[in-house]
Amino acid sequence: MKHTAIVLAAGKGSRMNSEIPKQYMEVDGKPVLYYSLAALETSFIEEVILVTGADQISYCQTEIVEKYNFTKVRKIVAGGSERYLSVYQGLQACEDTDYVYIHDGARPFLTNQILETAKACVEKHQACAAGMPVKDTIKIVDADGFAVQTPQRSLVWQVQTPQVFDYSLVRRAYDKLLQMNPIPIVTDDTMVVESMLQAPVKMFEASYENIKITTPEDLPVAEAFLRKIK
Ligand code: CTP
Ligand code: MG
Repeated sequence: MKHTAIVLAAGKGSRMNSEIPKQYMEVDGKPVLYYSLAALETSFIEEVILVTGADQISYCQTEIVEKYNFTKVRKIVAGGSERYLSVYQGLQACEDTDYVYIHDGARPFLTNQILETAKACVEKHQACAAGMPVKDTIKIVDADGFAVQTPQRSLVWQVQTPQVFDYSLVRRAYDKLLQMNPIPIVTDDTMVVESMLQAPVKMFEASYENIKITTPEDLPVAEAFLRKIK
């Protein structure tokens, strides 16, 4: 069975408000993107497809892949203007794979343990995603900001990546999404599989540390986690 990872690094990072895209910002001396690629390099994953901005391909090739000797990165492809378009480019670049692990390059805390849990889960369920039960009570609000519903907390999870699928299943879901007119708003891959194929997606517990670097206050948190690991 072949396991391929797609690492997404084609975003602009508008919520971070920084000069350079957040995936290339340095945390504890290395670019954010380095950490998930390092975890994949020492895992059972056979190939990594890196998706980045068209103008960032050569930077990624020399300053990340060659510099840190990431031998599993077989292709660096240009992404699109939205996350789902970048994922689609990654899916099209996969070759003869059985399972695909879609991961945000902005999540540096990927571990071998998370990958092993994902592997067992996808082999059993064909579609699964990393996540954690929420700690806060979550409110559904109306357009004016009034609370209209309070879902039972034990049933609410925050979803992370990796999101892992049988390749042909997720490929069918994305092919269908791209044929829609208009294309509905999707913010992650599980949504695509759920809404296009009505396929069940199993959630598995990853870690509360598996954060996505999104806004400036995430940076000191990430630094602290990395110091703890060392
Ligand atoms: N991503 C991507 N292609 C896009 C948009 C996002 O590959 N067109 C990637 C990002 O690089 C990131 C991951 O998807 O690793 C999660 O997206 P997000 O945190 O939303 O990153 P950005 O879109 O870059 O940030 P923002 O939404 O604040 O602009
Ligand atoms: Mg985004």
